[in-house]
Amino acid sequence: MKETEIDWSNLTFSYTKTDYNVRCTYKDGKWGEIEVSDSEYIPLHIAATCLHYGQESFEGLKAFRGKDGKVRIFRMIENARRFIKSAEGLKMQPLPEEKFCEMVRKVVKLNERFIPPYGTGASLYIRPLEIGISPRVGVSPATDYMVVMLVSPVGPYFKAGFKPTKVCISREYDRVAPKGTGAIKVGGNYGASLVAGEKAHELGYSVMLYLDPKEKKYLDECGAANFYAIRDNTYITPASESILPSITNKSLRQLALDLGMKVEERQVPLEELETFDEIGACGTAAVCSPVSEVHDLDTGKKYVISPDGTVGPVTIKLYNKLRAIQWGEEPDVHGWCEILD
Ligand SMILES: Cc1ncc(COP(=O)(O)O)c(C=O)c1O
Repeated sequence: MKETEIDWSNLTFSYTKTDYNVRCTYKDGKWGEIEVSDSEYIPLHIAATCLHYGQESFEGLKAFRGKDGKVRIFRMIENARRFIKSAEGLKMQPLPEEKFCEMVRKVVKLNERFIPPYGTGASLYIRPLEIGISPRVGVSPATDYMVVMLVSPVGPYFKAGFKPTKVCISREYDRVAPKGTGAIKVGGNYGASLVAGEKAHELGYSVMLYLDPKEKKYLDECGAANFYAIRDNTYITPASESILPSITNKSLRQLALDLGMKVEERQVPLEELETFDEIGACGTAAVCSPVSEVHDLDTGKKYVISPDGTVGPVTIKLYNKLRAIQWGEEPDVHGWCEILD
C-alpha cells in the first residue's frame, strides 16, 4: 500500500501491511544476524513447539511522529525486559535487551513512511513476537527460536474524545491461574480469554474485569489492560501476581506522583469499587480508557462510578500528560522516549 492511500485520521487498531518485518533466529546456541523480510509469512515446521505447546510470547509498543517531526519510541527498554521475562516463563531463549532494541529501531526505520503524521492521533504499533521453532512430539521446549517484529500504523483509540464504557465481572471465567502465566505476555493467556471477552461483548460490555483467580475477592485487570482507580488525591492500582505489569500503568503512577498525588499499589477488594471517584483501564492501545459502570453478573450488583458518563478530571490530566510526552509536546523529564536518528 502506498502511504498516500492511507487515511491516517481514520485508522483503527488493526493490521495494515507495511514494507518490511525483521527477524532473528536462535540456532546452534546463538542468535544470528538480524534479517529483513518483505514477506508476511514464516516457513514453519509442522511440529514446531509454538504450534503444539504454546511456546509463543509477544510485546506491543508504539512509535510516534512528534510535533518537531522527530520519531519517538516509547519506553522500549521496558518492553525488552518484559519480553525476556515472558521467554523465561515458557522456557524459551530470551532475546538480549540490546538485540531487541536494535530490531525495534531497524523495523521502525525501514517502515518510516508508515509512521502517521503528527496531529492525526495515529501512531506506529510495533509487535515483537517470539516462537519456538524446533519440532517436538513430546512436551518439551524447543532448542531453536525465532523473533519476528512487524509494525502497523494504528489509529487513536478514542477518535472523538474519550468514551467511557461499561465493564462486567463474572466468576465463571479466569484468564490465568493463580501461579500461572498472568504476569507474562504469552499467547495462551489471550486464547484463554476469548470466550469471556466475546461473552462480555455479546452482553454489551467493552471487556471483562477479572477478579483474582485464587479467592475471587480482589480486582485483577481488565481484558488486555490494567485497572486503576482514583479516590481523593490517590492513584490506586492492584498488586497481583496474576496480572501483566503494564508499562502504561507504571508511567501513569510516575505522572500521578509528579502531579503531587499519592500512589497505592496493593490488593483492591471488589467492594472498594463503591468508593472510587474515577476508574479506568490502561495500556499501550488506549493510554487510559475510562469506565463508567461495573456490573457484577453473578450478584446483579451495579457499581456506578460516573452516572452521567462524564470522564473524571484526573483521568483527563494523566491522559493528556502522557500523550504530550509521547508526541514531544512536553519535556520528557523521565527519559522515556528514544528519538530515532
Ligand atoms: C493482559 C494485559 N494487561 C495489561 C496490558 C497493558 O500493558 P502495557 O501498558 O505495557 O501495554 C496489556 C497490553 O499489553 C495486556 O495484554
